[in-house]
Amino acid sequence: MDFSSVQGKVAIVTGASRGIGKAIAEVFAENGMKVVCAARSLDQGQSVVNNIVSKGADAIFVQTDCSNAQQIKALVDAAIAHYGRLDGFVSNAGMGMGGTPLHEYEMADYNRIFSLNSEGVFAGMKYGAEAIFKSKSDGGFLINVASVAGLMPQSGQALYTATKFGVIGMTRVAAMDYAKYGITVNAICPGYTRTSIFGDAADAAMSFFEKDCPSGRMGDPRECAYLALFLASDMARYISGAAIPVDGALSAGHKSVTTWKHPELITGEALSSRSTIAAIMEDSKGAAIVNRYLPGFADNEQVKQAYGMTFQALAPMLGLPENVMNAMLEELDQL
Ligand SMILES: NC(=O)c1ccc[n+]([C@@H]2O[C@H](COP(=O)([O-])OP(=O)(O)OC[C@H]3O[C@@H](n4cnc5c(N)ncnc54)[C@H](O)[C@@H]3O)[C@@H](O)[C@H]2O)c1
Repeated sequence: MDFSSVQGKVAIVTGASRGIGKAIAEVFAENGMKVVCAARSLDQGQSVVNNIVSKGADAIFVQTDCSNAQQIKALVDAAIAHYGRLDGFVSNAGMGMGGTPLHEYEMADYNRIFSLNSEGVFAGMKYGAEAIFKSKSDGGFLINVASVAGLMPQSGQALYTATKFGVIGMTRVAAMDYAKYGITVNAICPGYTRTSIFGDAADAAMSFFEKDCPSGRMGDPRECAYLALFLASDMARYISGAAIPVDGALSAGHKSVTTWKHPELITGEALSSRSTIAAIMEDSKGAAIVNRYLPGFADNEQVKQAYGMTFQALAPMLGLPENVMNAMLEELDQL
């Protein structure tokens, strides 16, 4: 992997004062990009920039309310005024809103969330693209931070989901519009990522998010930032119009109960038919032996739940005397 192609590129990152936007700004700067950080909070945004500059990288802060299209235009103008060009625009600033059925949202909620998550993103793409064209960038890119909610509707999040579906729609259309002109347009779709979007959520709520995710953990903002860096680089010039999840398989599909036939693969033990019930039950002779010692076991639905457990572990649960268990295992070993 060679990220040298991003060196010297100028990129705007909105919502760069914390969370995913901050991580993207830092990772861009660490790799030699010049970063224009935008957010509403002067203190927080300037401190992110100060930290980047203190490490010898190049960044400026432009205070911007991204729900205001005119301020986004002014942000692009400020980037051109300072660096003389623009190569990329990352529309990351966004707000979450959820937890209620559709009818309980107010019309004011619609305006609030659409002005930032949708209109703000449109303005970033519009003014960003114009500036990238004028800069004659030969590696121009637009990156929108959408969400898994833009791929898979989330109950209780009618407005948020609508904005994120819209962002992915605009991403795909713009990708086609600019494909011939060398500007790539992609969306990053974070899953549960540890940022302030979760506010002061209780530990119990956080552990729900961890359990809900197939990977069993929440994401780190830098895991989204690494994808942004790749999309900004010349290695990703042929990737455009994509909405890429960074979500530990959260949006891959509906989660259902799965148990392993060979958990030894994880523990590093040698694979053995004796070590798992599933492997034994798949062998007709093995199934016959087990059925002799444990009548009805092969037809028991719970056997499926027991996949991955060894007979030794199951013996006490099944109430099987140790000598009977050993006799069965010995017979199975002869297979
Ligand atoms: N954290 C997650 O689990 C998650 C999941 C899916 C999608 N996302 C998306 O990722 C993006 C970043 O979210 P985050 O989790 O880092 O949130 P965050 O709240 O930690 O950061 C949001 C950033 O946006 C800025 N911002 C908010 N309103 C703004 C405005 N009007 N003008 C300018 N800046 C503004 C904030 O100052 C902050 O820098 C959002 O678009 C969000 O929808 C996050």
